[in-house]
Amino acid sequence: MFSFENGVYTITAGGMTYAFGEANDGSLRHLYWGGELHDAAALASLREGVRNPPRSVPTPYEYPTEEAFDYGEPCLRVLFADGNQNVRLRVASHEIKGSVLTVVLRDANYPLTVTLTYRTWGDLPLVGRTAAITNDGGAPVTLVSAGSAAFAFGRARDWRLTHFSGTWGAEYQLQREMLTQSRVLIESARLTDAAFHQMPFFALDEGGASTETAGEVFFGLLSWSGDFRITVESRYGKAVTVTGGVNPDTARIPLAPGETFTTPEFTAGYADAGFSRMSEILYDWQFDHILPRGGKTDKAHAVRPIIYNSWYPYTFHVNEENIFGLIPKAKQIGAELFVIDDGWMPGRENDLKGLGDWVIDTERFPRGMGAIADECHRQGLLFGLWVEPEMCNPDSDLFRAHPDWVIADGDRPHTFMRHQYILDFSRDEVRDWAIGWLDRLIREAKLDYLKWDMNREVTEVPANWRDTGAAVKYMKNVYAVWQYMNETFPDLLLENCASGGGRADFGMVPYSDRVNRSDNADPVDVMILHEGYTTLFVPKMAGGAGNVAPPSIHGRDLPLEFRILSGMTGSMSIGINLLTADEATLSRLREATDRFKTIREGLQDAYVYRIASARTDPWCVWQYCRRDRKEFSVFGFGHAIHKWQGDMVPLMRMRGLVPGAVYVSDDGTRRTGAALMRIGLPVKLNGDYATYFSHWKIED
Ligand code: DGJ
Repeated sequence: MFSFENGVYTITAGGMTYAFGEANDGSLRHLYWGGELHDAAALASLREGVRNPPRSVPTPYEYPTEEAFDYGEPCLRVLFADGNQNVRLRVASHEIKGSVLTVVLRDANYPLTVTLTYRTWGDLPLVGRTAAITNDGGAPVTLVSAGSAAFAFGRARDWRLTHFSGTWGAEYQLQREMLTQSRVLIESARLTDAAFHQMPFFALDEGGASTETAGEVFFGLLSWSGDFRITVESRYGKAVTVTGGVNPDTARIPLAPGETFTTPEFTAGYADAGFSRMSEILYDWQFDHILPRGGKTDKAHAVRPIIYNSWYPYTFHVNEENIFGLIPKAKQIGAELFVIDDGWMPGRENDLKGLGDWVIDTERFPRGMGAIADECHRQGLLFGLWVEPEMCNPDSDLFRAHPDWVIADGDRPHTFMRHQYILDFSRDEVRDWAIGWLDRLIREAKLDYLKWDMNREVTEVPANWRDTGAAVKYMKNVYAVWQYMNETFPDLLLENCASGGGRADFGMVPYSDRVNRSDNADPVDVMILHEGYTTLFVPKMAGGAGNVAPPSIHGRDLPLEFRILSGMTGSMSIGINLLTADEATLSRLREATDRFKTIREGLQDAYVYRIASARTDPWCVWQYCRRDRKEFSVFGFGHAIHKWQGDMVPLMRMRGLVPGAVYVSDDGTRRTGAALMRIGLPVKLNGDYATYFSHWKIED
């Protein structure tokens, strides 16, 4: 709900109040963000307390632009034609329409308009913000920095920052630090991805005192997959501001007369009961508002099919013979979707060739992909293919025809990775080319599923790259292709893969049905990776080429039971070589998929509670609690547990249950929700590669 009273704008949603107001000089100042206030007079008095002229650390500006005495990180810096870079924004008008508030600001001396937009989603304590910056003058200007929003925090308090960072195979690592008077930058400048280096996300809690289940957590996320910067700045007097948007280092944005640049959305949220509550809010947001929901089934709420993927057993060496051999085996083990990964294009028997030429290798697939799709469909399996549209090999017809389409720095030698160039998606013709061949491929190969991969980051950029906003245009055009596929093929399931989790971010959530969480499918590492992942993202999206897979990154061969149970915690996919697997393995896989299908709905429309963490103990325990609270499952994984530790595994206290209801486990044990939450469950884990699983349903 939005209101405007006595110069104060108030947003109330899901127990949260967010307020800002017009100061006497017409500037817009942040007033309050936190639990619901029910007190317009208190907000009005905060507005009256704004000092003009401002003091050394002024009452925070709602959209900072280096106003007088404000030396903090600005949202906006504009280079005008006369060389001036100062911006002074004053309120011109506002409008409230349903769940959207817009406030129009104008510069007092220069022809520049900034339209701030605020939106809410139902009763979730979230507010999404964008800024649209318009050049109203007759001469071009440059946006030296064009942030999406700034969020200010109560002064004179000690704040702890939580964020996630990592690298390939080591994504979603939790990082925490107490803020001191300094600027902390969470950022990426690699062009094609960000999330596995730095997730465009922050959370702040007071004194570092909030836990999984208690305390206030203020958090924010940028819906953007490209270069970004979030500046967390603590100034004298512990005045903290978080500013974020596209990375000004890699994108100065030119605006011709009359042009507008609209920033990515920066969404802020407030949780009043710890980090688990934060996750619940983010899950509800994904399930009920932002996940793709087209198609015959409501994809946002539908379960994900069990996948068989060719990558781990065959890498590039796929052909008609092994694929036709695998299809009935995939059916036999209970898979529901068959995916041919990398390797199906002409000459693609290694990474030297084949990227860019998106036609089927008729030498290895003489009957074409249609025949394989038909065979999958005949056997009752969905069919999917892998693509990597943003790349090409130098040895490709595409590169020979369009050498100017790749991102390169003139004659400077190019640094290759996986022998591939990045195509310049900031060019509309490249975007249109991708839409053209993807449309054809999806129809001709009768695809039910498409895995979009992206496997490298930029190393050399053209001379004018940073000054043309190309990095932003690149990502907007990538989104445009995903948007096209979603709109044109609403039943198609789309996997977002970027060398694993390179684009596991909220920018991609509205377009993709599944995420390659990580190329690291080692289930012991997953004990940590999945904790970070599920803090932010719903588990049914979490997949990869095979989370029930052979030894990969470590070469560590783990017991099948451990791998199977780990696979069930996300979007289950199997990457074991079924042509060489013995009958015992095949029938164990079949039992597992049969079992998984009976509990999948409860696992995939669920909140994940992190009951015990492998970051602090040699085990982790995750409770998957259906959102209607009628069912839950408990997963436990342990590794390298000493004798004296195993004896000490505490009773694991459940969360989120109906206290007065009786829950019955599959072995017939009956417990009230209150007992499960107050006394807890004995989760027995011991030794190496230990597993625990139990499944409970509310009594009718
Ligand atoms: C990286 C992906 O993350 C893998 O799942 C696989 O698709 C390979 N690329 C294929 O080249």
